[in-house]
Amino acid sequence: MATIKDVARAAGVSIATVSHIINGTRPVSDELRARVIRAMEELDYRPNALARSLRIGQTKTIGLIVPDNSNLFFAEIARAIEDTGYRHGYAVILCNSDGRGDKQQRYIQALVDKQVDGIIFISSGETTAGLQYALDNDIRFVMVDREVPDIVADAVLVDNELAGYQATRYLLELGHRYIACVGVPPYLTPIAQRVTGYYKAIEEAGLELPAGFCVYGDTQIESGERAINQLLRLVPRPSAVFVCNDMMAIGVMRGARRMGVSIPEELSVVGFDDIALARAMCPALTTMAQPISEMGRLATELLIKRIKGELSSSERQRIVLTARLVVRESTCPPRST
Ligand code: RIB
Repeated sequence: MATIKDVARAAGVSIATVSHIINGTRPVSDELRARVIRAMEELDYRPNALARSLRIGQTKTIGLIVPDNSNLFFAEIARAIEDTGYRHGYAVILCNSDGRGDKQQRYIQALVDKQVDGIIFISSGETTAGLQYALDNDIRFVMVDREVPDIVADAVLVDNELAGYQATRYLLELGHRYIACVGVPPYLTPIAQRVTGYYKAIEEAGLELPAGFCVYGDTQIESGERAINQLLRLVPRPSAVFVCNDMMAIGVMRGARRMGVSIPEELSVVGFDDIALARAMCPALTTMAQPISEMGRLATELLIKRIKGELSSSERQRIVLTARLVVRESTCPPRST
């Protein structure tokens, strides 16, 4: 069994340097870190995690809870979080709450009991289940993407109402007047704010939309297909639709095609997120691009600063980023009727 002494010798550094790199207790150059990690891998050295955590009072582990890791938005933000955590010497444990309060609570308790150093938390949207247990155990956590009311914690968010307004303004400026919306129930706060932005742009343009022009999905692809099946039966028929996430927008595009409606000629579609699949669609999806990687990186760096005590405990950090419109092939001016 290789020891820390064997690693130090193989890497040509002191035992203290190896220890600092393992525990993240001193910044080192990327070259030195890579050299020591390479020696650890070659010698198959396994630091004694329990001994280390008892010694430094940290497990160098971060918990991450997402509502649905099969949704590419959460998969992409989880990737950014894991990359950033690893770069800073932290392992990341990914948990999937399935958007359910009971699973969220069980995972928070499991992470606290495993003594993670902190948690990055994307709310299931349902409840704050489990958060009080984390607070009672002095676990630092950062909220990302979805802010939970009444919980005082660091947060990295996007201005969703502004983004919903901008997406709708773009369709209005193309000349569309019958613009539908596919949102989600109000308890999913960030997406509900996008719907607020949609209505703000519609009302500002002095438009009176017929009933039924805003319907709800559940963030999954199939709910987007069900939504467009409903919207395309309206009279007058919408010539454009703002969809509050890309997964549902993909369902909208599939449903429209199945109904023989061509995109963008007969129906313009704007999504939200800019997941990799949006760019791969045919036609490629016009969407409001969330700064997904930046959100993940900032949240992780914020949590690590909180873990290391580099931020005053009295002040909470609330970072609000902006989404940007990415015009692709799924939108065009309405056909002259
Ligand atoms: O696609 C999942 C959606 O829920 C994203 O828009 C993200 O903001 C999350 O809240």
